Amino acid sequence: MEQTDIYILAIESSCDETSVAIVKNGRDVLSNIVASQINSHKRFGGVVPEVASRHHVEQIIECIDLAMEEASVKIEDLSAVAVTYGPGLVGSLLIGITAAKSFAWANELPLIPVNHMAGHIYAAQLIEELEFPLMALLVSGGHTELVYMTEHGDFDIIGETRDDAAGEAYDKVGRVLGLTYPSGKEIDELAHQGKDSYHFPRGMIKEDHYDFSFSGLKSSVINLVHNAKQRDEELCDVDLAASFQESVIDVLVDKTIRACQEYNVKQLVVAGGVAANKGLRNRLKQELDQVLPQVKLIVPPINLCGDNAAMIGAAAYVEYQKQHFSDMHLNAKPSLTL
Ligand code: KG4
Ligand code: ZN
Repeated sequence: MEQTDIYILAIESSCDETSVAIVKNGRDVLSNIVASQINSHKRFGGVVPEVASRHHVEQIIECIDLAMEEASVKIEDLSAVAVTYGPGLVGSLLIGITAAKSFAWANELPLIPVNHMAGHIYAAQLIEELEFPLMALLVSGGHTELVYMTEHGDFDIIGETRDDAAGEAYDKVGRVLGLTYPSGKEIDELAHQGKDSYHFPRGMIKEDHYDFSFSGLKSSVINLVHNAKQRDEELCDVDLAASFQESVIDVLVDKTIRACQEYNVKQLVVAGGVAANKGLRNRLKQELDQVLPQVKLIVPPINLCGDNAAMIGAAAYVEYQKQHFSDMHLNAKPSLTL
């Protein structure tokens, strides 16, 4: 083992995934254990914070052991411990933070606090070296943001949602369509079998800024479904899914391409759970190829789009190099921004 290699043990527990990874030099994922709790939350139609915290407590130690075992590293090989400290559910964050602090203290390792959203962007660094300036489209269950970066660790939010996040709109529309939570993946699959026949509004698409709004679209879908029920009319589910998805994609792609043009970026990173969306990935690729072929599109593979600790390890490497360490007073910041 070369002395210069940096091995980071990273912990992510901000929502409903308990995850521990070992990442070498911010790029090589030696292990990335993800314990999902989704089956426990499905029947409630969303994440129940108390249930999530309890699961994290039950899972975290085993995830650490498995991550170390799978990566075949010894504690002496580790350079630092990284942990998500926000944004997220306070109880969930605290479990990861407590585990990270204990591990770091017991093994005399530096502790690196990581912003969950920075982690989503840095998932791209596991695929390709980031080049600046770049634009990141961050689309998850809680966030929809366009983030401009001119160097590592420097984030400028140029646009964000004024109401619902893209993933949240998917999950709420999924509920009225009778799908199980989270419904983004299923709507994506249904959408590919239907066509945009309902023509829902494209929120703020023409407006001269990079903010988003999805609550008008969500209300249009919900109203249509409720009215149809009252009149006993049949709706076509695959067309509903396709029409909703087309509206979301039109707005996301239009604003993202405009932002890439105006900021003259070298790369476009797509990050967060909704980055798994096949329709979004395809359309962004098509439009970039046509309009801005010089911009390189980086979309992480599906397993790195959702919440995972490898992305936290990738973001932590930048902090490690800047020696941005925390003491043992590190606390959860549920509303942390970039
Ligand atoms: O980033 P993430 O795993 O958790 C948060 O930090 O929020 O994102 C979860 C969100 C959920 O809203 C889920 O419905 C959505 O990502 N999602 C998708 C797809 N797969 C997951 N949305 C659209 N299309 C997909 N294929
Ligand atoms: Zn996330």
